[in-house]
Amino acid sequence: PEHGKTYRVGFSQCTGGDLWRQTMLSGMRRELSLHPELELVYRDAGNDTQRQIEQIRQLQAEHIDLLIVSPNESAPISAAVDSLFRQGTPVVVLDRKITSDSYNTYIGGNNTEIGRMAGEWAAKALGGRGRVVEVWGRQSSSPAQERHQGFVAALAKFPGVQITEQLRGQWEKDTAKAVAAAHLAALQTADLVFAHNDVMAQGVREVCRQHGLPGPRLFAGIDGLPGPRGGLQMVLDGTLTATFLYPTGGEEAIRVAARILGGKAVRREYALSSFQIDRSNVQALKAQSDKLTDQQRNIEQLNSRIGLLNNTYATQRNTLIITLIC
Ligand code: FRU
Repeated sequence: PEHGKTYRVGFSQCTGGDLWRQTMLSGMRRELSLHPELELVYRDAGNDTQRQIEQIRQLQAEHIDLLIVSPNESAPISAAVDSLFRQGTPVVVLDRKITSDSYNTYIGGNNTEIGRMAGEWAAKALGGRGRVVEVWGRQSSSPAQERHQGFVAALAKFPGVQITEQLRGQWEKDTAKAVAAAHLAALQTADLVFAHNDVMAQGVREVCRQHGLPGPRLFAGIDGLPGPRGGLQMVLDGTLTATFLYPTGGEEAIRVAARILGGKAVRREYALSSFQIDRSNVQALKAQSDKLTDQQRNIEQLNSRIGLLNNTYATQRNTLIITLIC
C-alpha cells in the first residue's frame, strides 16, 4: 500500500463511462475520505468482459486486500472472481451479480422488485389495456434479467397489456437509438416504452420524435439520477413519464469493505431501496437532491483543502527538521 495506507481495495468496474457509474465512483471517493487506511485501486473495463477478466487477474497478481466488483456480464466474470476468492481475498459484489457464491457480500437494489413496480405502474398508466415495447439492458447481466422477470410477472395479472416487442439496448443510449430506428413499426403502434434504464428510454423517445411518430405516449426508465443529465430532470422535463430509483451503492461498498478489512461482521446481502418517481413527487425529490449535491460538493472542497493543508504542514515540518539538523 501507499504510504500511510494499510489496505489496498481493488475495484473492478464494468464501465466508467456513464453518469450512473460516475455517481457511484464519487460516492466511493467521498466515503474513502473517511477511511484513510484504504487505498483504492481502480480498473475500468470499458464494457469489455475479456478485459475485465484480465484486470481481475492482474489485481489478484498485485495481491490486493479486497476486491469490489461490478461485472459486465454475470456468468463469464465468475471464474476469475472464484479464483481470487479461493485464495482468501474477500469479495464485495456490487450491482451486477456473479453466478457463483464466491463473495462475502452483495450490495445492490432489488431488481426483480423494481421490474415488478414498473410493471404495475405500466398496467395502471395504461388503464389495463395497451401495447408495450421493452428495451433491455445487456441480457447477460443480472439487473437486466431480473428487471425483465419482475416486469413480466407483474404484467401477468393484466391480460390486456401485452409486450409486443423486446429491443436490445445493451444499457447504452446510442445502441438503444440504433435499435429503435430499426424497429419504427413496432414503436409506432406501441402505447408505452419500458426501458431498463433512463438513458435508453430517452434515446428511444428521441428517435420516435425525430421520425415524427405519434406514439408511444408513455416512457419509463430506471435509475432516477440527480443532476442536469439525470432521470429526475427527464421526469421534470416530461421526456420520461416515470422512473424508478436505483441507488449506486458506492458509499455502502466502501463502508462494507472497511468493515470486512477491520475484521467486523457483515451481512451476506445489503438491499438498497427503490421507489417510483413521477410527476407527483419529482419536484420535491429534485430540490432535495440538488441540496445534497451542493453539500457533497462542499465536503469535497473541504477534503481537498485539508489535503493541501496537510501537504503544507508536511513541507514546513520537513524544512524545520532540516533546519534543526543543520
Ligand atoms: C450503468 C447502468 C445503469 C443500470 C445499471 C445496471 O452502467 O447501465 O444505468 O441501472 O448499470 O447494472
